[in-house]
Amino acid sequence: MTDKSNPIGDSVTTAVSLRSVSVSLGGRTIWSEGTFDIPSGQIVAVIGPNGSGKTTMLQLLLGLIPPSAGTVTVFGETPERGNPRIGYVPQHYSEAVGQAVRCRDLVSLSVTGTRWGTRKNAADTAAVNAALEAVGAADYADSRMSVLSGGQQQRVAIAQALVGNPKLLLLDEPLANLDLRNQREIVDLLAELQQSRAVTILVVVHDMNPLLAHLGGSVYLLDGHAHYGSVGEVVDSDLLSHLYGTQIKVVRTAQGDLYTRSN
Ligand SMILES: Nc1ncnc2c1ncn2[C@@H]1O[C@H](COP(=O)(O)OP(=O)(O)OP(=O)(O)O)[C@@H](O)[C@H]1O
Ligand SMILES: [Mg+2]
Repeated sequence: MTDKSNPIGDSVTTAVSLRSVSVSLGGRTIWSEGTFDIPSGQIVAVIGPNGSGKTTMLQLLLGLIPPSAGTVTVFGETPERGNPRIGYVPQHYSEAVGQAVRCRDLVSLSVTGTRWGTRKNAADTAAVNAALEAVGAADYADSRMSVLSGGQQQRVAIAQALVGNPKLLLLDEPLANLDLRNQREIVDLLAELQQSRAVTILVVVHDMNPLLAHLGGSVYLLDGHAHYGSVGEVVDSDLLSHLYGTQIKVVRTAQGDLYTRSN
């Protein structure tokens, strides 16, 4: 597999670093012993069964919840709420924001969200247009979310995360509820963003297959512990079968493509 970690020739730095990290919610440890470094500039899957703490992992990196033990850094700094270098698409984002909102207004909130009541200036408008353009949503920028397909809605969700040119994008199940063609289109968009912006992208997924050709590695939550491994390490029948609690086969086609299937 070719090295996907360094698309535009920048020196590779560490995007995310965890040392002996545990996370607790409501007095219960969700996962523990997270010690790993994620190199910058690659697409990384975040995998684990329902309730294993994938969303919790993203919230930790956003500074929305503190570690109960250990240290976390994102580009060398302790995570802090409202970090403009991190773009976030929450799980169920499109349902949560309401269907009546216009796409442009939704993306504008990323610019003006901290200054309610103030007018957008020309630079703000340009930033919103650039984000909509970057995801291929310019044509329906003035439509309401309700009239868009799931794939189009997901593009707008990614646009609001791109405002401010983040170095790290965190996407929580962006492929959920999309048909195969729309999954492919969103994956192609992520690959293009990774290549053109050298952004590091963490993507929570239940099925790695649509992403496999573009993946640098994966964070995986196994038996209550957080790990990171390269694609070669993680796309492994024993590991994935253990992780999901069902038999998973890893298949390599004659053309060299890799995919997983359950049987
Ligand atoms: N605020 C909270 N207080 C207590 N427990 C919580 C809280 N939020 C989440 N949890 C619990 O933490 C665990 C991890 O939740 P999380 O949402 O991170 O899982 P997930 O891997 O994203 O799951 P899914 O695949 O269903 O989205 C779950 O058992 C959940 O019930
Ligand atoms: Mg989740």
